Amino acid sequence: MDNNINSIQKRESVKRDYNIIADEYSAEFGRKYEDIEVVEEFMSKLKADSKILDLGGGTGKLTELFIQRGYNAICYDFSKEMMRKSKEFYPNVPYILDDMIEHFENNSFDVIITFYSLFHIPKEELDKVFSNIYDLLKQNGVLCFVVQLGNGEDFIDEPYLKENGKKVLYFNFFTKEQINELLQKHNFQKIYEIEKEEVGENELGEDGNNKIFIIAKKK
Ligand SMILES: C[S@@+](CC[C@H](N)C(=O)[O-])C[C@H]1O[C@@H](n2cnc3c(N)ncnc32)[C@H](O)[C@@H]1O
Repeated sequence: MDNNINSIQKRESVKRDYNIIADEYSAEFGRKYEDIEVVEEFMSKLKADSKILDLGGGTGKLTELFIQRGYNAICYDFSKEMMRKSKEFYPNVPYILDDMIEHFENNSFDVIITFYSLFHIPKEELDKVFSNIYDLLKQNGVLCFVVQLGNGEDFIDEPYLKENGKKVLYFNFFTKEQINELLQKHNFQKIYEIEKEEVGENELGEDGNNKIFIIAKKK
C-alpha cells in the first residue's frame, strides 16, 4: 500500500467509494440478512427498552430489524448515497449522516452494533473510534461488532468499483490479538466471540478471510 496516504485520505476514500457503489452494493446486500442467527441470539439478550446505535449502518437493514422488534434504534453512516438507499428501502429508519471519527453525545446508548464497518477505519484512527464508542455507551453498555480477520491494511478489489484495474477500497484487517488489545485498552470486557468461515467470495468480493463476531461490555 502507498505509505504516503494519510488516515484522512484513507477514510475519505471509503466515503467516496460507498457514495459511488451505493446503488449496486445496496441492490445485492442492502436488504440481505446474512448473519441473522448471530443477530437473533444477540437481540434475545437485550433489555426491552434498549437504545441502539447502528454505526456504519449503510442501508439501515439492521436498524430496521431492531425497530421492528420494538427497540429504539438509529442508523449512523457517513455516506450520503447509502443514506439515500436507506430512505428508499426503510423510510422509517432514523438516520444520522456523519463520520464515526467525530465525537458525539456521551452516555446515550445501551447498545452499539457495528457490522462490517470497523474494517474501513484506518488503523491509526481505531483508538479514537473505540474511545468514541466507549463514551457513547451508557454504563454497562454493550458493543457488538463483526470484522474480518487478517493482517495489515490494504486497498482491495471492490467488485463494483474498478478504476483502471487498480485496487481501491480501503480495508483494515484485524488479528485476534489486536482486537483483544483494543478492547482491553478501551475498558471493554469481551463476553462473546465467534469466528465464522467465509465460504467463497464474501460481501466485498475477497476470498478466504474468516470473520469474527465480538460482543463486549463497557466496564
Ligand atoms: C460494508 S458496509 C456495511 C453496512 C452495514 N453495517 C451492513 O452490515 O450491511 C460499510 C458501511 O460503513 C460505512 N462507513 C465506513 N467508514 C465510516 C465512517 N468513518 N463513519 C461512518 N460510516 C462509515 C460505509 O459508508 C458503509 O455504509
